[in-house]
Amino acid sequence: MTIPFFPSIKSICCIGAGYVGGPTMAVIADRCPHIEVTVVDLNEARIAAWNDSDLNQLPVYEPGLDAVISRARGRNLYFSTSVQKSIAAADMVFISVNTPTKTKGIGAGQASDLRWVEACARQVAQSAKGHTFVVEKSTLPVRTAATIKSILDAPQKHCDGAGTSPTFSVLSNPEFLAEGTAIKDLENPDRVLIGGEDAESIEALADVYSNWVPPNKILRTNVWSSELSKLTANAFLAQRISSINSVAALCEATGADVREVALAIGADSRLGPKFLNAGPGFGGSCFQKDILNLVYLCHHFGLPEVASYWEQVVKLNDWQKNRISRLLVHKLYGTVTGKKIAIFGFAFKADTNDTRESPSIRIALNLIEEGAKLAIHDPKADVQQISLELQTPRQETTAGFGPEGSWDYVDDVVDAVKGADAVLILTEWDQYRTLDWCHIATLMRAPAWVFDTRSVADSLKVKEAGLNLWRLGEGED
Ligand code: UDX
Ligand code: ADP
Repeated sequence: MTIPFFPSIKSICCIGAGYVGGPTMAVIADRCPHIEVTVVDLNEARIAAWNDSDLNQLPVYEPGLDAVISRARGRNLYFSTSVQKSIAAADMVFISVNTPTKTKGIGAGQASDLRWVEACARQVAQSAKGHTFVVEKSTLPVRTAATIKSILDAPQKHCDGAGTSPTFSVLSNPEFLAEGTAIKDLENPDRVLIGGEDAESIEALADVYSNWVPPNKILRTNVWSSELSKLTANAFLAQRISSINSVAALCEATGADVREVALAIGADSRLGPKFLNAGPGFGGSCFQKDILNLVYLCHHFGLPEVASYWEQVVKLNDWQKNRISRLLVHKLYGTVTGKKIAIFGFAFKADTNDTRESPSIRIALNLIEEGAKLAIHDPKADVQQISLELQTPRQETTAGFGPEGSWDYVDDVVDAVKGADAVLILTEWDQYRTLDWCHIATLMRAPAWVFDTRSVADSLKVKEAGLNLWRLGEGED
């Protein structure tokens, strides 16, 4: 297709006001005051929360997001449920909707469920006017752009105001932001990746980013390379975590310390020091989903050996979560039935309220299954979200003790530890670094344990308080 010359982008619509769409558009609006940015979502409550004058009510918790929103919202950043109207007004539409792993049908447990992406493509095909750039922002299986394009290019029953059918260019522009550091990652990205079919379309999007991203950080590839790069980047990162977690288990068995090993191997400039923190297993909406997607693709393209190589990264992650709950039961004399256990941290990592695929979910469910009474504390993840993840209602009791095999949510760590046999730290929130272990020890039932999967507790102070300490990746004294 020959694309006519396009003026620079003046109006952007983003479909999906989630963890990716919301912060990404907020930063684009902040850095490009000349572009009108509208984020649309079918979820009215979510849009209302994005419009709330109380910035503590934003649906996504991200350090620095409130400041960006307060600068841009109402100036050139809008949140709306008027999907069709916003698409019609836009030169460029970002698709940033959820793409979870399919739970049934073909590819169940591996392939991404693309029903929301397809619905978006149909909405865009129906409502767009003139030439519209359609940008894939959600992480998608390789070759999804072709699906989107074929829906967009199918003859529509409407034509735009000028009496002509709309035309489309599809671009892939995967998001590499990590939650908790999203604003920093967006404002100062390692790279921006744009995959496209033709140079003019790629430049239209590159022009938006060039308002704040240095030219050498804007990478241009074909669409398929861009889609595959996102899956591969996440697969490599997740692989690194499974690798260090596997070594953590070996450290515990041999008397080595995984933090020392990580320091030593990370000093090699070919490996680098980042992403070597052993923990309870990776969580979040991307890693598992993207690897499973990769596995599905490999099978699809007749590469079973490559598929099983990557699948092992997820298997090791599952093993790590189960190993932690098993170990805790073992240390508590082989049974946790009727015992109170304080869970510190439910978000999949610190500085986010996101609980999707959090390792805390599997570990909590295992302990509930064993009959434990969990008192869950998290500074940001809310009780409704935890309830949804655990699929069992909270058992609220004034004393903080529910029946066997139950969970309760507590606002205060002190309430969580009262009468507990163990504290299990699962998220590396800063506030768990400075806990008063002496005071906590007086409230727990002796002999009491601290299980620290993130190495955040002050180990000397825990031991001085007379508590037993188990740290992930550290051999026994
Ligand atoms: C990830 C990618 O980093 C990002 O580029 C992509 O766009 C989306 O997926 P995110 O899931 O937000 O981002 O968080 P990330 O910081 O990558 O952490 C993922 C999981 O790995 C978390 O559960 C975290 O606790 C765990 N992790 C990370 C470790 O256990 N150890 C580490 O050293 C780093
Ligand atoms: P992510 O982490 O990728 O941002 P989220 O689940 O947080 O994913 O957000 C995706 C958002 O997309 C949800 O708020 C959902 O309501 C919205 N969404 C899904 N399909 C559509 C659609 N067809 N039109 C508008 N919004 C949609």
